[in-house]
Amino acid sequence: MMKSLKRILFAFCLFFIFTTALFAQQNSKTQWFSHDRFGMFIHWGLYSAAEGLWKGEKLRYANNYAEWLRYRNRVSKEEYGELAKRFVWDQINPEEWVLLAKKAGMKYIIMTAKHHDGVAIWDTKIGDYSLSRLSGTNRDIIKELAIACKKHDMKLGFYYSHWIDWEHPYAWNHNQELTGHVTDQQYNQYWQEKVIPQLRELLTNYGDIALMWFDMWIPYEKSIIKKQQLQQVVQLIHNLQPKCLINSRLGLPTDEKNIDFETFGDNQFGTTYVDHPWETPGTIAHSWGYNGQENEWKSTSQIFNSLISNVSLNGGYTLNIGPRADGTLPYESISRLEDIGKWLQRQGESIYGATGLDLRVNQHDWGYLTTKTHGKQTQVYAQVFNWPLDRILRISGIKSKPSQVSVRIGASETSLKFKQKSGLLHIQLPAKQPDPFVSTISLTYNEPLQLDKEIVAESTFGGFALNSTNALHQDKLQITKYDGKRPQHIQTNNETIEWMIDFPEVGVYKVDISAHNPNKIFSTILIQIGTQSITEKLDSNGKLVVEPNENNYTDEFVNTSLGSIKIDHTGPQKISFKKEGSEHLWLNSIWIEKKN
Ligand code: GLC
Repeated sequence: MMKSLKRILFAFCLFFIFTTALFAQQNSKTQWFSHDRFGMFIHWGLYSAAEGLWKGEKLRYANNYAEWLRYRNRVSKEEYGELAKRFVWDQINPEEWVLLAKKAGMKYIIMTAKHHDGVAIWDTKIGDYSLSRLSGTNRDIIKELAIACKKHDMKLGFYYSHWIDWEHPYAWNHNQELTGHVTDQQYNQYWQEKVIPQLRELLTNYGDIALMWFDMWIPYEKSIIKKQQLQQVVQLIHNLQPKCLINSRLGLPTDEKNIDFETFGDNQFGTTYVDHPWETPGTIAHSWGYNGQENEWKSTSQIFNSLISNVSLNGGYTLNIGPRADGTLPYESISRLEDIGKWLQRQGESIYGATGLDLRVNQHDWGYLTTKTHGKQTQVYAQVFNWPLDRILRISGIKSKPSQVSVRIGASETSLKFKQKSGLLHIQLPAKQPDPFVSTISLTYNEPLQLDKEIVAESTFGGFALNSTNALHQDKLQITKYDGKRPQHIQTNNETIEWMIDFPEVGVYKVDISAHNPNKIFSTILIQIGTQSITEKLDSNGKLVVEPNENNYTDEFVNTSLGSIKIDHTGPQKISFKKEGSEHLWLNSIWIEKKN
């Protein structure tokens, strides 16, 4: 008995040591990626020369990605190959892309070595379908890029379309869902004669490769690919470039053995804090490859938002540019990257090596918090997108007191006055925001942070909005969402809903409610704080016209003033809501604000 217990214990210890070692190994391998946060994606290939037009016709169908031109517009292999003649070789200089990435504060570049069209951008010896051969040049753009990256200390990774390849007769294209032409055996032939040897070239001839970025957006079980084929790729990378990271779009789940970081969907940004390394690949406009018809440019502040909100959730951002077939980039791309780079030069320490705090996601209505620790010292950065009109920045949820709060104005760091009351911090801001896109306020703490993730964040201008996003025990609530995404109201029955409010001051607070009563009769509600309670009867309400002239009606949320409560001590207090009876009431929010 004793012996078997010992054996179990021993096995458990071994397992523990083994898994911790694996994770530790993974952490050191992915450390740079989690630190760098911001990289450049480059989509450049034959499609760049089509510029989103084929024989005068724009891209077909809804998701009109320019790099999908050959497939969507049903272009033959031969005619597609002719696009190689449009490349303006005496102007193409990959070093300029690297310099732009540097200027933008990006720390790595991911280059499309082979996209779905099957064209190798490097001078491959595997087959003759490469940009170099098709355009009759002796240039190898991947080699030039690799040299430029090394020269400018930029990490280099390759995008390689493994699953889809529209050139090889036995590879996958989506029409096979209808035609079913390729057998497993034929697909394996494509794998063994094109994918594996081409990957071997990329991993052998271009120096250190920081990451390999594969592209499959369904789990491999649902595709023609077999697990052994993916593992063969993993093995090849591990053998040839042991430090090279592999992204989750290879098709395997993110785990410590095969996949080093998770790639979210295209332009899909974080919504919760994720522990393992992850990134969002995003477009600067709509397409990945250059599209001369493009008119959906993301604004610079949108890009800042994407980058900073991802960092606040422990993620990164790989932002794509699509150079033209002469290597140049539209002004729209350059100006955005330059603006971002200028900001990162000043505020980079709040992004590189930074992460987020374990507070409610998006709880501050003015922007995001990022953070980093140096030994015992913790820095918190309030990234303010919306400079408050009353010049008070309200930060909720950090109970520790900062030793210093400052903002950089021009070249000098200016201290700011602040008031701390338990989990609420008020910072006195200067009248003018120092940065037109996002201004960073730095908070220094000399102790590990004490957080309160339960309290409702204070709103800009003061006051607390109690709703579905900040209630306690949210998993027990029935929450209805706008477009299935943005939380709207709570469908209350007769359960008790609770919130925590950290009252900054004693005094009288007014209480309002916004709710819809879909029943024929009034609903009786009860709100309670400590020993005080408010009861009210809410009348039944009807519809509201959302947009005139569209027969677009919605149930109206009616605002009702419920009177006031007296708060006689500061600090966190629970407040609860309950509706009598079993009919539904739709609770939008309860608003609590100090009376002057
Ligand atoms: C999609 C597209 C592709 C693009 C990629 C980047 O998978 O098929 O064109 O390269 O996303 O994330």
